[in-house]
Parts: sequence; C-alpha cells; structure tokens
Amino acid sequence: MERRAFLGSLGAPILAACTVCMAACSKSSGSSSATPVSADFTIDLGTNLLTVGSTIVQSGVIVVRLAAGNLPASFTAVAVACTHEGTSINYNAAGNKFICPNHGSTFSTNGTVTLGPAGSSLKQFNITINGASMRVNG
Ligand code: FES
Repeated sequence: MERRAFLGSLGAPILAACTVCMAACSKSSGSSSATPVSADFTIDLGTNLLTVGSTIVQSGVIVVRLAAGNLPASFTAVAVACTHEGTSINYNAAGNKFICPNHGSTFSTNGTVTLGPAGSSLKQFNITINGASMRVNG
C-alpha cells in the first residue's frame, strides 16, 4: 500500500474518534458537571453558626444560619458546588441567596436556580437538631 493510500484510509476512523472524544470532553451551557454529594455530619451549635448569616462548609455542603433560634427552619444546607461547572458558591446575606462567583448563577436558600447559566438546582440536605447538636445528612 502506498503511503498516500494508507494515510487516506486512516482519515475517516481518526475523524470519527476525534468527534467522539471532543463531544465527551466538551461542556454545554447549563449542564451539570458537579458530582452529586452525600453527607452525614454534625455541627455543635454551641460554638458554631451563632449569628444570622454565618456559614460553615463541610463535606461538600454549605450550611447557613438564616434566622435566630436552634430550629431546623433557622438553617439551610445545600451542596457547595455550583451545578454549572462546580465552583464553590457563596452565601449572600444581603440578598438571602447563594451566588456563584464564576459565572454569576444564583440560587435560593433551598437551592433552586434563580439565575443561570446553571440549569439545575443545588442538592438540599436534611437538618435535624437535638439540643445543641445539628445533624446534616442526605
Ligand atoms: S460555575 Fe458557572 S455559574 Fe457557577
């Protein structure tokens, strides 16, 4: 087989392989590349999350005190990784929302997307409180 014919015969398979590879490696806007997390941990409310607006990030979860009192409704816990490309979100107390510093997606305190490009909600975790011990799991 001549060199030219040999290289010509490689063209179609290589092009097909590159197309598959590029599709697998590309990211589309609004899709989730963040790995869903599961977590189960406790927080001592006697020494943590004492003021409204304070946050803790642990095991891939951001926990926020939204109101006074040690009731589950006084807190929220959502996955810290933005569902767009996985950047860690921040809690914005003034706006009572989460904001991703990478491309500006925003999420409500229960993790619902309120502004893209993120296309899916943050996972919200269960909160139970026993005395001064908060359990976050999900
Ligand atoms: S990583 Fe793009 S908006 Fe969060």
